[in-house]
Amino acid sequence: MKKCVCTMMICLLCVLFFCPMVPAEEKKITDTFPFFPSLLNTVDGKPVKPDAFESSEICMGCHPDIYKQWKGSMHSSSFIDPVFQALWKLGEQETKGFTRQLCGGCHSVAGVVSNDIVFKDGEFHASDIVKEGVQCDVCHTVKESSFLETPTYEPQNASLIVDPGDVKRGPYKDSESQYHDTAYSELHTKSEFCANCHQVFHPVTNFHIERTYDEWKYSIYAQNDIQCQDCHMMPIEKAVETAKTLKRPVNPGQPCITGPQRENMFTHEFVGGNFTVPALLGYKKHAAIAEQRLKSAAELNLQAPAAGTPGDMVTVAVKVTNVAAGHNLPTSLTEVRQMWLDVRVTDASGKELLRSGNLDKAHNIINDARIFNAYALDKDGQHTMKPWEIARFEYNKTIPPKGSATEKFSFVIPKKTVGPITVQTTLRYRSYPQSLANLLLGEGAPVLPIVDMAAKTTTIKVN
Ligand code: HEC
Ligand code: HEC
Ligand code: HEC
Ligand code: HEC
Ligand code: HEC
Repeated sequence: MKKCVCTMMICLLCVLFFCPMVPAEEKKITDTFPFFPSLLNTVDGKPVKPDAFESSEICMGCHPDIYKQWKGSMHSSSFIDPVFQALWKLGEQETKGFTRQLCGGCHSVAGVVSNDIVFKDGEFHASDIVKEGVQCDVCHTVKESSFLETPTYEPQNASLIVDPGDVKRGPYKDSESQYHDTAYSELHTKSEFCANCHQVFHPVTNFHIERTYDEWKYSIYAQNDIQCQDCHMMPIEKAVETAKTLKRPVNPGQPCITGPQRENMFTHEFVGGNFTVPALLGYKKHAAIAEQRLKSAAELNLQAPAAGTPGDMVTVAVKVTNVAAGHNLPTSLTEVRQMWLDVRVTDASGKELLRSGNLDKAHNIINDARIFNAYALDKDGQHTMKPWEIARFEYNKTIPPKGSATEKFSFVIPKKTVGPITVQTTLRYRSYPQSLANLLLGEGAPVLPIVDMAAKTTTIKVN
């Protein structure tokens, strides 16, 4: 017995001693993720043909309602989106093609796993199926998430394994289709599915540029089992109700014209806050829902003294509460999106005593505005909005789910002021700074529309 233990010890020592002499091949990230810098993958790690994915128009034949909801969503426009295209092109030129697969991985899954995207004469070229963006087959042939193998062990940069083919994966355990095979996928019923594309990390430094899923994961919504799907795959009224009650919505319907009535069915508009691009591309319904979403997201509370005497310094406090977004407000492209307070204080004659958050002649927000966003810097500390350059945030001032932020504004009541004083506050949202739109869209850039999310007014008597 003793002898046996001894031999084992000797063996173990030998193993430990000789081990370092065998040169350990360091595992490269491209071994795990062959489409790096995108973390997308196929089941066998090999590229597929673009037409391994079926066109959404085929699905339309039997799932017409779902198709109509999806067409016009930002998912259906994720490749053709002119703002995306412009930044993608800039990345292509500045990084000598490094960002092509990275950006494509989320904006155009089929194009990346088929190596189908070509950059020629200043344009991206791809098969028609690739241009459908995040389409039916892209989502419904996802087999699993590979988040446990990513550099941060978090879902990020399209950490999905796709398996295009006959099996369409979805939420039902008992569905039967004459056209395709079906398989139950729990992943599709959870935020962890969306997470893989809704977390954008820098591919080299892994700095978290966008992290909508993380914001949700530690929120009261996650604690109450409210998934992304419960707000973004439901009619807007039901989503608003869910945010209020923290109870999951139910939406009976018939997902397929030849299939049964279902107790619960998820709609496919996938609307967030983008009302600009859907309107630009002619999808009025989606743009209108986005406006409604934005208007439901926040509440304003305004505190001011009832009265003041000329010569007094008066302070008003504006509290912004994120009442209905399941993540920070705003979320994701926070280094680009603009949500800010417009405050105007006037006396009874209309004379302005304070103004903040107004626009200049070129439609840019005047500098000292209270804006809720992230301010991104490159490695040299210079401001940037190019994702491939972002090294850190100077600050990230967004409002957590069910959280709030209070901003204070002060002014002195001038002598001989005729009362009462009116305080008007508005929370406004714009998809991009006008200067960025001009840079990306050039000469033809439209004047960007703004949505007023919430407003409050009060008066102060003058003694
Ligand atoms: C991990 C997935 C992912 C990657 C990688 C990714 N994006 Fe995106 N992108 C998204 C998502 C999700 C949104 C939508 C977020 C939102 O609207 O708030 C988005 C939105 C955008 C928008 C805003 C479009 C609009 O109309 O407002 C632009 C521009 C954009 N991405 C450019 C890029 C570029 C350029 C790259 C590569 C350097 C890139 N993205 C890489 C997922 C990704
Ligand atoms: C010939 C008709 C037909 C066509 C075409 C069709 N489907 Fe279906 N599909 C069905 C039927 C029937 C069901 C079952 C519905 C049910 O049980 O509620 C179904 C169910 C599904 C489900 C739910 C699966 C589950 O078990 O949860 C998904 C996802 C799906 N289809 C995706 C697609 C996609 C993607 C396409 C296009 C590539 C497509 N379908 C084309 C008939 C069709
Ligand atoms: C961004 C990914 C995504 C895209 C694009 C997408 N789906 Fe879905 N779909 C889902 C998810 C996730 C569910 C399940 C939601 C749940 O049960 O929580 C679903 C559910 C379904 C179902 C089951 C019934 C229902 O609505 O709940 C069918 C059928 C379906 N999708 C068909 C389609 C068709 C057809 C298209 C294209 C027109 C499409 N999907 C596009 C993600 C997607
Ligand atoms: C394959 C990647 C991918 C998956 C999976 C995915 N998304 Fe997206 N999603 C995108 C991209 C890319 C965009 C932005 C397109 C653009 O703006 O050009 C986007 C846009 C959106 C928007 C619109 C944002 C806005 O500004 O209005 C919403 C809402 C959204 N996704 C919700 C979801 C939900 C919910 C899920 C899970 C059921 C999901 N997505 C799954 C890639 C994905
Ligand atoms: C309780 C409801 C709710 C839940 C849960 C929720 N959202 Fe949202 N989401 C909203 C509302 C309301 C908005 C519009 C306000 C805004 O832009 O943040 C929004 C906006 C968005 C936008 C667009 C942001 C912008 O301004 O460009 C994206 C992208 C998005 N959601 C993705 C997700 C993803 C991914 C999840 C899950 C991890 C999720 N949402 C969970 C309610 C919800």
